[in-house]
Amino acid sequence: MDLSTRYLGLALKNPLVASAGPLNGSLDNIRRLEDCGAAAVVLPSIFEEQVDYEEQLIEQLIATGSDSYAEALSYFPVQATYAIGPDRYLDLVRRARQAVGIPVIGSLNGVSNHGWINYAREIEAAGAAAIELNVYFIASDLDLSGREVEQRYIDILKAVKHAVKIPVAVKLGPYFSAFGHLARQLDHAGADGLVLFNRFYEPDIDLARMALVSKPELSGAYEMRLPLLWVSVLAGRVEASLAASTGIDSADDVVKYLLAGADVVMTTSSLLRHGIPHIKELLGGLEAWLDARDLATLAAIRGRLSHCNVVDAGAFERANYIKMLQAYKLS
Ligand SMILES: Cc1cc2nc3c(=O)[nH]c(=O)nc-3n(C[C@H](O)[C@H](O)[C@H](O)COP(=O)(O)O)c2cc1C
Repeated sequence: MDLSTRYLGLALKNPLVASAGPLNGSLDNIRRLEDCGAAAVVLPSIFEEQVDYEEQLIEQLIATGSDSYAEALSYFPVQATYAIGPDRYLDLVRRARQAVGIPVIGSLNGVSNHGWINYAREIEAAGAAAIELNVYFIASDLDLSGREVEQRYIDILKAVKHAVKIPVAVKLGPYFSAFGHLARQLDHAGADGLVLFNRFYEPDIDLARMALVSKPELSGAYEMRLPLLWVSVLAGRVEASLAASTGIDSADDVVKYLLAGADVVMTTSSLLRHGIPHIKELLGGLEAWLDARDLATLAAIRGRLSHCNVVDAGAFERANYIKMLQAYKLS
């Protein structure tokens, strides 16, 4: 069975990629991911704030002299909240690269296009096969227009593309008024891939304490629907590769994303929920699904239900929305 695919110009043995998450921060886990069949691994993100922090710290130390190291550290209490600093991150990239044969993708997470972007070059030099750029931005400033927000994504992408030669994917959320147009702009600005979608930080309220609370939740099956829609709409209409991310739990979910037109599928929650060997189940289920239909390659199904390929493209749009609402049966 030929499950091979291409993502960001990289040849992958199958479409299953372990997306950025806490499991991928350990070398042992990265090796296990490869052993269980993952075709590539995205490391957890290094955050703009972490890189900025270190640069500010170095400047501070140069300005004040190393005698005042402890004092300088206290100017930056934020460091305590981050899991690993920029040097250790580069070390992780280096060691992961040496430990496994599959591509290791570094993840940069930020919101501005300042100096921290030079760090992309260091990730490249450390041996990353590609960079995933996670622009995690909540436009809570009411003066900021949609156009300005989109421009920010494009500027960051261009700055990173300018800094490195390896491929760059953009991971972004779905909440734009014209997501297709933004995707095309990113495509034209040189994005090698689009990762659909990022899950946003959505705080809850603890009623007992009357306080905002936040903890990362694992995704649920229903969350697949929005990325499924947009993968279908974009497949075959942008040059960039498409990675479907969010909501995968079973092999059927993998098949759906591939039918919609994804080049790869990514999973974090399913591996946190069921353990790393779950990758074998996903791959085995995908093979069984193809086998049952006498299909020998992934290419035979990829994009078969994309917007470009379905006869009734209205199924993605308003016509179907009305049909669906009117078909609801009251019990
Ligand atoms: C605990 C946890 C940590 C995560 N850390 C990162 C991260 O460092 N960088 C990133 O881009 N995405 C991160 N993600 C998001 C995942 O990569 C993924 O996009 C999201 O969980 C949706 O995919 P899923 O449904 O397979 O979990 C994290 C998700 C979880 C649950």
